[in-house]
Amino acid sequence: MTAKVAIEGVSKEFVREGGATVRAIDKATLFVNEKEIVVLLGPSGCGKSTLLRSIAGLEAPNSGLIRIGGETVFDSARNIDIPPYDRDINMMFQSYALWPHMTLEANVAYPLRVRGISKRTAQAEANDYLELVGLGGLGRQYAGSVSGGQAQRAALARTLIAKPAVVLFDEPLSNVDAKVRSRLRRELLRIHAELGFSALYVTHDQIEAMGVGSRIAVMRAGRILQIDTPEAIYEQPDDRYVAEFVGEANFLDAVVRRVDDVGMRVSTSLGDLDVRVEPDESPTVGTEVVVMIRPEYCELRPLRDSKSPQPNTIQGVISSAVYAGSRSEYICEVRGEQVHIWALGMGRRLTVGTEVEVELRGEFIRMIHGSLGVGRQP
Ligand SMILES: Nc1ncnc2c1ncn2[C@@H]1O[C@H](COP(=O)(O)OP(=O)(O)OP(=O)(O)O)[C@@H](O)[C@H]1O
Ligand SMILES: [Mg+2]
Repeated sequence: MTAKVAIEGVSKEFVREGGATVRAIDKATLFVNEKEIVVLLGPSGCGKSTLLRSIAGLEAPNSGLIRIGGETVFDSARNIDIPPYDRDINMMFQSYALWPHMTLEANVAYPLRVRGISKRTAQAEANDYLELVGLGGLGRQYAGSVSGGQAQRAALARTLIAKPAVVLFDEPLSNVDAKVRSRLRRELLRIHAELGFSALYVTHDQIEAMGVGSRIAVMRAGRILQIDTPEAIYEQPDDRYVAEFVGEANFLDAVVRRVDDVGMRVSTSLGDLDVRVEPDESPTVGTEVVVMIRPEYCELRPLRDSKSPQPNTIQGVISSAVYAGSRSEYICEVRGEQVHIWALGMGRRLTVGTEVEVELRGEFIRMIHGSLGVGRQP
């Protein structure tokens, strides 16, 4: 299957005022398959918008190759640079910029009108798309007199009405509050299932990335560090930066002591731990690695409820306890280390100073780097 969007070895440098150069994209390689939504996730300034703008043709990379639907739209080696309006894409920007003095219907119909489609046909189709984004009946409202969330939906309808094969979303939901954002996200997925476009979707919100992406590309300083499914990014991050960007985690330096079919034993500052090993990993006895466990995979029991000796279980004392609604967040002092632990749901409310037993569940302890460097490129 040919990728709907192919980005190969794309780099882009800017020259700042004063002459310093900034490498906004650093040899990025990425493929978006048919009907796939790939999320670009990374902190402010890491190059997400520059990458989208390069695909759209609004920015010319210094080097690399970009194909859309099999057609080469940019190739530095062959001097190909197809202008934006000849690329089969549509981009939805962070600021949705509807024309306030036009009705929603006219705003949404606009991309069809500029293609020469008759007013009646364009308006009828615009109303279908307004229906699709949950704004049925609001077509005659002026864009300047609807709520932010409604304007965002109308902008989405305007983006999709031209039926582009590829849609580029640059933080499309950043202007609405968290509740509306999660609702619009679900609607976007429903619409995507119905229309089946391919998309690149930029966000710096990891929750949004997990909710929207078939795959997530985590970016840092212009480079794509890992591209993988949300589950793999969260459960099996390639390195510490990726692990920390998508959630909280406890990290421990470890030395591999024993390896067998099901896992390995490592020694750490918390003592010896049994760790799961993936079939594609083959750690070597004696090597130094880093292991990681997320706070929700650690279990906490008051010492008085101690079960008989359990594997991966160490005694400690709670030094911080924060009630956070759906979970309680604890920090536990264990042999001089601080272990972050989340007790979900109806977990017991434990107080600071309580002596506890901490169980680091071996099937959820992950080796994240060391001698392995297991990359997961497509
Ligand atoms: N026209 C420009 N001239 C000079 N530097 C630029 C230009 N556009 C972007 N940059 C720089 O390139 C880097 C990447 O910018 P970009 O806008 O792609 O980041 P981003 O990941 O989209 O960030 P944000 O999440 O804040 O939108 C930044 O350091 C930025 O300052
Ligand atoms: Mg940006």
